[in-house]
Amino acid sequence: MRILGIETSCDETGIAIYDSEKGLIAHALYSQVSLHAKYGGVVPELASRDHIRKILPLIGHVLALANITANDLSLIAYTSGPGLVGALLVGGAVAHALAFAWQIPAVPVHHLEAHLLAPFLEENPPKFPFVALLVSGGHTQLVNVENVGKYQILGETIDDAAGEAFDKVAKILGLGYPGGPALAKLAEKGNSARFNFPRPMVKRKGLDFSFSGLKTHALQTLQEFGDDEETKQDIARAFQDAVVETLVIKSRRALRQTNMHRLVIAGGVSANQNLREKMLLMTKDEDIELFYPRLEFCTDNGAMIAYAGYQRFLLGGKADLAINVFPRWELL
Ligand code: KG4
Ligand code: ZN
Repeated sequence: MRILGIETSCDETGIAIYDSEKGLIAHALYSQVSLHAKYGGVVPELASRDHIRKILPLIGHVLALANITANDLSLIAYTSGPGLVGALLVGGAVAHALAFAWQIPAVPVHHLEAHLLAPFLEENPPKFPFVALLVSGGHTQLVNVENVGKYQILGETIDDAAGEAFDKVAKILGLGYPGGPALAKLAEKGNSARFNFPRPMVKRKGLDFSFSGLKTHALQTLQEFGDDEETKQDIARAFQDAVVETLVIKSRRALRQTNMHRLVIAGGVSANQNLREKMLLMTKDEDIELFYPRLEFCTDNGAMIAYAGYQRFLLGGKADLAINVFPRWELL
C-alpha cells in the first residue's frame, strides 16, 4: 500500500509517499525560513497561511515525483499534534478532505512518535527494543521504546528543550532565526578551552534535564567578556559542548539503567554534527549500536509522518470524520 504523509506542525510543509513494499518513493519539503526570518522567530498566523498556499501544489508535485496518481494511494497520514494549532489545522483539514474525496482512510500521527521512528526510513534500521533520545525544538526526552506505541519516558527536561536552548542562545548571540544550525556553525570556530559552562543536573540522580540555566550563563558571559566575534564563537562552543556532553552523559546513564544495547537519536538537534560524533564515541565505548536518521529527516519532514502513519494503521488506528488537532500532546 502507498501512504501519503503530511507534516504541517510548525514552519515546514512536508509531503511524502511511503510504499509498504518499496519504502519511501518520493518526498518534498517547503521551508518557511525566509518568511519568518525578519521577525526573528516563527509567526504562527503567517505559518498557517503559508501552509495553505503551499500544501496542495506540493502534494501534486510529490505525486508527480512518484509517478503515480491519487488512485494509487491507500492511506493519508497527517500530523495532528503537538504543534501550532492553526498550522496543524491546515494539514488536518486537507488530509480529511482528500481522504473523503478519494475514499481512503486518514490516520492522525503524533509528531514526536514520527521523529522517534524516523531511523526506520534508513537502510539499516534499528531493531526493537531501544532507548531513544528525542531532542527537538519543543521536547527533550529519553524514552524506553519496547515497540511501536509502547513507550516509557525515562527522563525529560524540566524547563527548556535542547533545541529551544540552542535557539535562545543563538538569539542572545545575535544570530537570529533559525538559531540552532547557525549556533552550531559559529561553535566550529570557537575555542573550547576558554569558557567552561556547567553540565546541568548531571550530578543529580535520574534522567531529567534542565537547559534554561545555560542561557543565563551565556548571557552573563557575553556581558562580562564583551560581544566581539571571538567571544561569541567561544560562547557558542562552550554552550554546545555543555549541551552535547549533558545529553551524552544522560544517554549513557539511560542505556546502563535499562540494560539496552541500542540507542536512537532523533529530532532537530540530532542533526548536530558534534552531538553525533560524541554519541558515536560513547556508544562505541559502551558497545552500543547507534542509529539516527539522515540529516534531512532529523528536522521536520513528511517522510517520517507517512512511515509513522503506516505503523499506526497497522495497529488499527484510523481517524473518524471529525478534524481534531492537539497543540499539546504528550507521547504518553
Ligand atoms: O524537530 P524539529 O525540526 O522541530 C520540532 O519538532 O521542534 O527541531 C527543530 C529544532 C530547533 O530548535 C533547531 O534550532 C534545532 O532543532 N536544530 C539544531 C540543529 N539543526 C536544528 N540544533 C543544533 N544543531 C543543529 N545542527
Ligand atoms: Zn519536529
